[in-house]
Order: sequence, then C-alpha cells, then structure tokens
Amino acid sequence: MKRNINRARSQSWDAVAQWYVGWTGNNGSRYHRALAVPLLLEMLDPRAGEHIADLGCGPGILAPPVAARGASFVGIDLSPRLIAEARKSHGKSGRFVVGDVTRLPRHVHLPVGGFDAACFLLSIQDINPLDAAMASAARLLKPGGRLAVVMLHPCFRVPRQSGWGWDEGRGLKFRRLDSYLTPLAVPMQSHGNGTTRSYHRPLGAYAEALSLAGLALTGIREVGDLPVQGDSRADRRAAGEFPLFLGLRAVKL
Ligand SMILES: C[S@@+](CC[C@H](N)C(=O)[O-])C[C@H]1O[C@@H](n2cnc3c(N)ncnc32)[C@H](O)[C@@H]1O
Repeated sequence: MKRNINRARSQSWDAVAQWYVGWTGNNGSRYHRALAVPLLLEMLDPRAGEHIADLGCGPGILAPPVAARGASFVGIDLSPRLIAEARKSHGKSGRFVVGDVTRLPRHVHLPVGGFDAACFLLSIQDINPLDAAMASAARLLKPGGRLAVVMLHPCFRVPRQSGWGWDEGRGLKFRRLDSYLTPLAVPMQSHGNGTTRSYHRPLGAYAEALSLAGLALTGIREVGDLPVQGDSRADRRAAGEFPLFLGLRAVKL
C-alpha cells in the first residue's frame, strides 16, 4: 500500500541489516562496485586531507575508497546493526555514528561546518523528509563544500510505477511509467524480519531541496544499467538507453 509521503518518516534498515550485508558483501554489490561507487567518487572527487561525511552510510562500503584517496571518512546511519557492521568491516578506514540525518545529533565526529564534502550513496531515496536531510548535509559542510548524491534515476525508476514493455510491431523494448509527479512512500519487498520504505519524488523536488538548503547544483550524470550475458540486442539497447542511476553534484553557497 502506498502512503502519503508527507506523513511518513524514514526508518532504519535494522530489521533487514543481515539481508543487506549478505547482498552487498564487504565491498558492495556488483551495482555498487561497477556503477554506483565509481559514479559517487566522480561526483564527490575526494582529495587527500579532506573530511568527508556519508549520510545513510549503511555498512560503510564507501569508507575504503575514500580513505584510499587520503581523505578522512565519517559515516552516519539510523541502523545500529549496520553501523556495528561498518565498524567491524571498515573501522580502519573511517568512523561511524548512529544517528538520524533528518535530525542530526550533536556529536564530536559531526562538527557543524566541519566537512569539505558530504554524500548520499543510494540512501537519499530511503530518507524522509528530504528537505531536512539536505539541510543536514548543508549544515555539515564548510562554505564552498561539495555535496554528491547518487540515486536510482527518479525519472525512469519509480518503485512499483515503472517497468519494461515490449512493442511487438516495432520489435522494441520500451520503458513504461505509470506515475511520476506524485511523491510516494512505497513499502518495498520484505527481507528477513522487515520491510523498508522507498520515497519517490520527481526530479524537481531534489532541485528544490538543494536550493532550499543553500546548495547550488553544479553537475548531473546519468548512467545506464550493466550488460547481462545472454541479453538480446533489444535488452542491451534498452539497458544503455534508459539510465539506472542519477548522480548530482552541488556546492554550498
Ligand atoms: C539502501 S541503504 C544504502 C546504504 C549505503 N549507503 C550503501 O550504499 O550500501 C539506505 C540506508 O539509509 C539509512 N537511513 C534511512 N533513513 C535514515 C535516516 N533518517 N538517517 C540515517 N540513515 C537513514 C538506512 O538505515 C539504510 O542503511
């Protein structure tokens, strides 16, 4: 059942932590490794000596590639189990804090204005309300600090409201969209003991939230899906033609 997005608050992924860690492994799922992390690093451009915050860090798979560039890493997530996992697997590459990024806690590792860059890696669409999450990212950044966001492309991947279709006459695989402008809070497939919720918002809502938080959009990148062995020509064309992920880059004014 869809819920009114205005009344839904985001939840921790604690109940599905075991499943999620099993899916990502220590270094991320194949989508993380091949597409999402490289796109995030491109948008974020972490540099030696910088302080980087990852909002909705989950099991912390972004910490090692950021630390490898000589930057220091702080991850924050609502799920105590995922933060425990992050500390266990990546404690040498960063620090990890349990907290709600829509109501940022006071914490010695989360100094206001203390970060050169911040990011949301596949987390912004699991966090609600959006404006509060963007405001927290902006609060953590120094003036001139950078924000990078990687998410499922909201124009083409609307949970339960988009999919593939086959046009027999034209021999063409097409992308079908059943709704787009209406913001949605969508319960996702249940895993283990719990169900997570994903929040669909149209692209304009992200631009608006950035602007409200005093962040200016400076870059956009869209990337297609991974090729799968045995895919038909039509499958390959569709996977390359309709983006899976969207990357945004912004700067604090
Ligand atoms: C899809 S997971 C992504 C985790 C990680 N960035 C990754 O790519 O593996 C989404 C994460 O957002 C976290 N989350 C949801 N709402 C949150 C909130 N209000 N504050 C902090 N984290 C939140 C969940 O606990 C979950 O770990």
